Amino acid sequence: MDKLLLHGGRFLTGSINISGSKNASLPILAASLLTDQQVVIERVPDVSDTNYMLQILSALGCEVERYSGTVKITAAKIHPEAPYELVRKMRASICVMGPLLARLGRASVSIPGGCVIGDRPIDLHLKGLQAIGAHIDNEGGNILIEAKDGLTGKEVDLRGKHGPTVLGTDNLMMAAVLAEGTTIIESAACEPEVIDLAHFLNSMGARIEGAGTRRITIEGVTSLSGTHHTVIPDRIEAGTFMVAAAMAARDAVTLNRVRQDQLTGATEKLREAGHFVDFNETGDQVTIRPGHSPIGCSISTAPHPGFPTDMQAQFTAMFATTPGISVVEDTIFPQRFMHCAELTRMGADITVDNGTAIVHGVKQLGAAPVMASDLRASAALVLAGLTAKGTTEINRLYHIDRGYEMIDEKLLQLGAKVERVRGSA
Ligand code: EPZ
Repeated sequence: MDKLLLHGGRFLTGSINISGSKNASLPILAASLLTDQQVVIERVPDVSDTNYMLQILSALGCEVERYSGTVKITAAKIHPEAPYELVRKMRASICVMGPLLARLGRASVSIPGGCVIGDRPIDLHLKGLQAIGAHIDNEGGNILIEAKDGLTGKEVDLRGKHGPTVLGTDNLMMAAVLAEGTTIIESAACEPEVIDLAHFLNSMGARIEGAGTRRITIEGVTSLSGTHHTVIPDRIEAGTFMVAAAMAARDAVTLNRVRQDQLTGATEKLREAGHFVDFNETGDQVTIRPGHSPIGCSISTAPHPGFPTDMQAQFTAMFATTPGISVVEDTIFPQRFMHCAELTRMGADITVDNGTAIVHGVKQLGAAPVMASDLRASAALVLAGLTAKGTTEINRLYHIDRGYEMIDEKLLQLGAKVERVRGSA
């Protein structure tokens, strides 16, 4: 298993390019199952989650070619059984369910297992698909989903107790594009990744309106065609490097290939904490300068356009050394605080109770061997290591490789002193 050695105390400077979005790529790759024609998708980040998805698509019978960030997929002859060995590696594999059901009338997908960031039920995915005519069975840990008489559009409210569901909205949207009649999704997720999926599907001939709002209308069509699509920038990777810059830039760090409208949550909170965030006129480049007197603040995660849960751990790491008291609440995944125990081992003063972390900023953290527990928790440890005294050793690096393309190389490019130590499996 690879680990990362981060020698703290180096200032960051310069610029990097932000990669294509992992969370937009995953459902878009799955949506290629909806047509027998070739789709070409650009700016797919080379991270292990997108690789798992491509392996699942190959196992389902797709022809897959990948070079650099471009992926070509032809799903001419596919079958409906997603293999457990691959599906179990990534929860987002659940998003092949909607497309398989729509294209083949049935699907068999393993039920995703537990997850370190908390409960990850799929009841809302199933509720949506059932509403448009799917029959669901559970057999030996697999969901067998079938629509013998085809799918028929309906109005469905997808709100759960923690708000809307991103992949649940995606799954229903992908199934409904080939249903007969009109489907209306109420309480839909309106994350930028949902909008990107809708753009992709519309470019294949789907008729979707309202993506990006709480009400999405999908008028079913009989077939979809091939297309060419470029994935949106990864707003969470961008947000993570914005925090890195606020914590450790000498003067300024610039991030290219971003989208200002997708970074409002992180931008507002960095400014509130006293840092400087400036976008260029076209909103596709951002420069971050650390503030002279940063100050802790409060964060409460919320569905888009609120503050993203996927940025919670990184801000907690920043607050660990920001003067004052910060209060961080995760309303979407109240158990997503695994990083706090590791940050505490580095000297942070954090108390977690009932979905909320109270962070008393300390002057500096000290390096320690730490364990990555999930993707964003690992990112938080990398951020903490940038300014910690000594060399932070981050173990179980595969968590970060799931979602950050070449993070060590990008950090090196900005002047951090970081080494990847290759290990055995
Ligand atoms: C997506 O997961 C993202 N993953 C997650 O990013 C992100 O944290 C999450 O959305 C929230 O923004 C991908 O896009 C691949 P949800 P998703 O369904 O869609 C509850 C990362 O770090 N819920 O929107 O699976 C659920 O428990 C990852 O990149 C139900 O109750 O999340 C949670 O409390 C991690 N029933 C809330 O809804 C359901 O059937 C939102 O989850 C589904 C979800």
